[in-house]
Amino acid sequence: MFSVRKTALAAALIGATAGAAFADGHANPAVKARQQVMSLYAFHLGTLGAMAQGKMDYDAEMATKAASNLAALTSLDQSMMWPAGTDSGSMEGTRAKAEIWSNFPDVGAKGKALADASMAMKEAAGGGLESLQAAMGPLGGACGACHKAYREPES
Ligand code: HEC
Repeated sequence: MFSVRKTALAAALIGATAGAAFADGHANPAVKARQQVMSLYAFHLGTLGAMAQGKMDYDAEMATKAASNLAALTSLDQSMMWPAGTDSGSMEGTRAKAEIWSNFPDVGAKGKALADASMAMKEAAGGGLESLQAAMGPLGGACGACHKAYREPES
């Protein structure tokens, strides 16, 4: 008798856990992948930004590495990471606004703007602090323009 109840309880708990996993965007591999790409963007942008702001000594080799990685990351084909139905109105665990899917040409243009700014940074980063600093504005601006339009504010 007891063991039957225990089994039922275990089944109920597993059910609850599975339900929670579905509600959490991190359980969706595509959402997780795109957020991880964004984290990699942020890591490399952070290195370049710290140098641009004088919080880290300028190092041409390190700056070039960071910029090259960022340029490589922005050239990834991300189409499989943004499947329909993974917007913030449809699931938990994502800050991607539904407008991404209804306004795709503009999202693509914003992605292209980032790739272009990253390529420009790749050319500029090793050419001295002032050269890096000049490329920083358009690069940070390309991140911000897309977030402003298509990313929910942090809750
Ligand atoms: C074309 C649009 C676009 C561009 C360009 C873009 N982002 Fe994002 N970013 C998003 C969206 C949409 C999300 C929300 C993704 C989600 O939660 O599913 C996001 C989320 C993030 C996050 C949070 C990731 C997490 O773990 O939840 C970081 C950090 C980030 N972006 C950094 C950057 C940086 C740095 C750049 C520029 C180098 C950049 N992004 C460029 C659209 C963009």
